[in-house]
Amino acid sequence: MRLFDADRASDADWDALHELQASAYRLDYPERPPMTRQETISGLRAPQVQAGEQLTWTAHRNDRLVARAIVMLPSDGNEHLALVRIHVHPDVRRQGIGTELLHALEPMLRDRDRTRVEGWNLTLGGPGESWAQGLGFRIVHSAVLQIMELSEVDRGRWSVAVPPGYRLMRWVGAAPESFVSAYAKAREAIGDAPLGESEFGAPDWSVDRVRRIEASYRSRDIEHRTVVAVSSGGEVVGLTEMEARPLLPERLQQGDTAVLPAHRGHGLGLAMKSAMLRWFTADRPGVAHIWTATGTGNTHMIAVNHRLGFATVRTGSVVSREL
Ligand SMILES: CC(C)(COP(=O)(O)OP(=O)(O)OC[C@H]1O[C@@H](n2cnc3c(N)ncnc32)[C@H](O)[C@@H]1OP(=O)(O)O)[C@@H](O)C(=O)NCCC(=O)NCCS
Repeated sequence: MRLFDADRASDADWDALHELQASAYRLDYPERPPMTRQETISGLRAPQVQAGEQLTWTAHRNDRLVARAIVMLPSDGNEHLALVRIHVHPDVRRQGIGTELLHALEPMLRDRDRTRVEGWNLTLGGPGESWAQGLGFRIVHSAVLQIMELSEVDRGRWSVAVPPGYRLMRWVGAAPESFVSAYAKAREAIGDAPLGESEFGAPDWSVDRVRRIEASYRSRDIEHRTVVAVSSGGEVVGLTEMEARPLLPERLQQGDTAVLPAHRGHGLGLAMKSAMLRWFTADRPGVAHIWTATGTGNTHMIAVNHRLGFATVRTGSVVSREL
């Protein structure tokens, strides 16, 4: 097993990793567009910033790359968790490699004070679920992947008025100093998004976390945009965020959308997301698709996404176990 260093990897290292991921994804996620080499590189160089530190291990047998594990170590209230994604090359499955890789990770995760492991995006009824259940994991949640193809969508769907009594504000990168503390507070509203029995809780938002995350986006060259809803009293009552990665110019990734409880049911979620779509696609003509993921039980968000032009392409499960 080796720790994969995305800053030092050679072309041959990327080729091997990509061959494994592309083969596995073709088999495991046929509903999703094929994995490209750029996507493999982007996934490691510009990871999901808000999920915490990301480490990748590769497993080799006789010099052949046979599996890889991506581990995310979230912070700010989720320090007990490790989120693990293991893929074994389709040619060498059912030989104990996945099990051995997971067991080899365990002491390293304990060293980082993690006490629970979760795996996300397993195929319903697929090999990952059988494998994980055999190892003592329980299925605790499920989430949908939704994709919008811009060539097919009627952009008129995004002409949505802002509800009376509110206005929208937006920024790229850092939140304005005068708003950052109200913004950090509003971000806690994501805690109401259904997560089943997953232990991945909404992070403890603070100005410090907002600023740390903004710095991580900057250091990875990820463009992060935010639209917030502001009440007539000047309070930040909702937000939505979207990211563009340097190696994936044709894709935008939707992040959190949340509205404070007292302001729900007025159409703010739809208005903020529409404004974000109009804004982000207007000055990025190369964008072809937008991705988003949300809990299967989050019927309101799923319905808003359908109204905007997203299609549900996949449902994946979440498994969880004490370490
Ligand atoms: C899940 C995965 C990692 C398993 O890797 P693997 O090396 O093939 O698994 P192992 O050989 O260690 O399997 C151990 C046991 O798990 C169970 N298992 C594994 N694959 C299975 C399948 N396709 N169907 C039923 N049970 C399965 C079996 O009990 C197996 O023991 P057995 O072969 O003696 O019957 C691999 O199928 C994979 O990469 N899947 C796609 C990604 C994924 O779902 N990852 C898991 C979540 S992080």
